[in-house]
Amino acid sequence: MAQAFSSVKAALEATAQTYDRVRAVIPPEEWAGFAEDILAIRELKHKRRAVILAHNYMTPEIFHGVADITGDSLALARKAASVEVDVIVSAGVHFMAETAKLLNPSRTVLIPNLDAGCSLAESITPEDVRVLKARHAGLPVITYVNTSAAVKAECDICCTSGNAKQIVESLGVPEVIMVPDGYLGRNVAKTTQVKIILWNGSCEVHERFTAQEVRDYRAQHPDIAVIAHPECPPDVVAEADFAGSTVKMSDWVAQKKPPKVMLLTECSMSDNVAVDHPDIEFVRPCQLCPHMKKITLKSIRRALEDNTYQVEIPEAIATPARRAVQRMIEVPA
Ligand code: 13P
Ligand code: SF4
Repeated sequence: MAQAFSSVKAALEATAQTYDRVRAVIPPEEWAGFAEDILAIRELKHKRRAVILAHNYMTPEIFHGVADITGDSLALARKAASVEVDVIVSAGVHFMAETAKLLNPSRTVLIPNLDAGCSLAESITPEDVRVLKARHAGLPVITYVNTSAAVKAECDICCTSGNAKQIVESLGVPEVIMVPDGYLGRNVAKTTQVKIILWNGSCEVHERFTAQEVRDYRAQHPDIAVIAHPECPPDVVAEADFAGSTVKMSDWVAQKKPPKVMLLTECSMSDNVAVDHPDIEFVRPCQLCPHMKKITLKSIRRALEDNTYQVEIPEAIATPARRAVQRMIEVPA
């Protein structure tokens, strides 16, 4: 008992500087439960020559406490391709870990919880893509990166919410197929002359926001800036002051510094951005991604201790899937 108490005390001391940064978004009682795992993870990373790639939706104790590289799907993919370490821990959902493995196949890539899926990735199968291709013969297929490697293997090129318009236009054709996010596809279609054949997948988190909700918040907070992720329905995006990928959203806040802001996206993102902007008031219509939330400090610690769960992709899928991701990476941002 006394030993446990002294190790918590030592961990609190060792993590005090980090806690100073995040105290506005994590109460001290909660931090007391995180400090030991944070310290253990930092030691394990050193011992195993590992980096943690954390998506912007990770909780703040992960994002600010143990992550080495943070970002949106595109930034994490680019970093995953170039890190020179033995182990990459993907603190995000399964497709992000697969993307890291595709781009850096000689590294051990770990996903701390195999159940960290994505409603978009689940909305389409490789067979669905084959049927679409047969129905629209000759059209290139763009897949949102939120898909399984097996789906990517059937497609010509990937895109993320950060580069979807550029990817659509990079192909130099009048018509493309874009899967699986119907809302992202419609939002992109509004900004380009290229005709887009869509699939009706959606993100279970972003589809919950409504245009009426945005209008109600604006009525309550007349000075609020509203920024939306492009996975939101188009009528929600139409109500926003800006729409962009998670990195573009946080860059917008950093540049514009509105007095009050509402991020129409996953809940933890507001906490993570708020840490760097103590003068901005964040209004939080909190929507949690149940998949992202499966990644915890405890599961990251276990991943590094037990080398679980290793991401492996059969070569017959990896080769064409890698081509689609690589082709995306090569399109200038
Ligand atoms: P970003 O690429 O914008 O980070 O989005 C990923 C995602 O899953 C959003 O729900
Ligand atoms: Fe998938 Fe939506 Fe969760 Fe992003 S927020 S991982 S798109 S379910």
